[in-house]
Amino acid sequence: MTVPGTETMPDTALASLAADEARAAAIDARVRGVVRDDVLAMRAYHAPRGDGMLKLDAMENPYPLPEDLRARIGAAAASAPINRYPDATAEALKQSLRESFALGDGVDLVLGNGSDELIAMLTALVARPGATIVAPEPSFVMYRVSAAIANLRYVGVPLADDFALDVDAMRAAIARERPALVWLAFPNNPTGNLFDTAAIEAIVREAPGIVAIDEAYYAFANRSFILRARDFDNVIVVRTVSKIGMAALRLGYAVGDPGWMRELDKLRPPYNVGTLTQVVAPILLAETALLESQAKAIVDERERLHAALAALPRVRAFPSRANFVLARFADANATFEHLRRAGILVKNMHGTHPALAQCLRITVGTIEDNDRVLAALGPRP
Ligand SMILES: Cc1ncc(COP(=O)(O)O)c(C=O)c1O
Repeated sequence: MTVPGTETMPDTALASLAADEARAAAIDARVRGVVRDDVLAMRAYHAPRGDGMLKLDAMENPYPLPEDLRARIGAAAASAPINRYPDATAEALKQSLRESFALGDGVDLVLGNGSDELIAMLTALVARPGATIVAPEPSFVMYRVSAAIANLRYVGVPLADDFALDVDAMRAAIARERPALVWLAFPNNPTGNLFDTAAIEAIVREAPGIVAIDEAYYAFANRSFILRARDFDNVIVVRTVSKIGMAALRLGYAVGDPGWMRELDKLRPPYNVGTLTQVVAPILLAETALLESQAKAIVDERERLHAALAALPRVRAFPSRANFVLARFADANATFEHLRRAGILVKNMHGTHPALAQCLRITVGTIEDNDRVLAALGPRP
């Protein structure tokens, strides 16, 4: 039988096509023979590139680096010893983080290649047979994904209708599951709200294991547990520099009591933070005035975007303490497509969780970026 489309192919090309197919089938058989069934059934994390589009789907900082900083970073990168492995302890970078956030001597830091890596490491840390991980839902998907990769039981506890923590449900889950690890994103992604501090403290008191407070959006929230990590025996604060303008550097940091950090550090791949990150991050972290002014501009714009979205007919915008706004539309898929055709990429949350039905998550951009979003969504002439 002739395969359609191959009728005019020479015999050598046909033979090589058949060889390619045989090889693909052989590899497929081997893959299925060794790769875990649950991994075979998974889908890889999809991060759209958004080439040429206004990218408002990933909570990035919208501001490019000022010219003078670029020059300084360029010079620092040029003299970095690229032929050598990075400093495995990244001491200078840790010191710069300590100074930036006035961390006391009583805590230690563990660095990750983005906080995504720290989420995987914290999950691996507690991956005893039978261990359980609890998180409110909807929240950051990597808590669930990392638990699945580590073959751990994961229990999602629904948030209340206003996206607040359902403290009774969380307490019941903690009493029932005795979780080794509880995740609390503060503020929460994708809902944008801050959980109540007293509710978090109650959970920390009752949790038998680690409570990891993920402060990816701390810069826009004006609230943090980072200086309180030592007030509790079981709190680890996880943060990232991704949302404050350094997403490309892939740098996350966990802060907690040395007793926890010593164990977590054992799971860290030895050279997980590259030399360029170790060289560049301290230069940017020292620019406190710049970082603060950008965060303030983003917070101001968040409030404007939120108010303008809330004023649109048939739109409900949820209050946010992060650098994005979650909003419910009459038809999220249609609005997502409409924005895409206007060259704007946002995150369509519809279908990811029942509480997020008809919701889009829109990253706060520059004034011009947000004007573009609002012009695309506003009443058209
Ligand atoms: C709550 C939360 N934690 C962690 C991350 C991951 O950040 P990183 O870029 O440091 O891996 C994100 C990214 O969006 C997030 O929303």
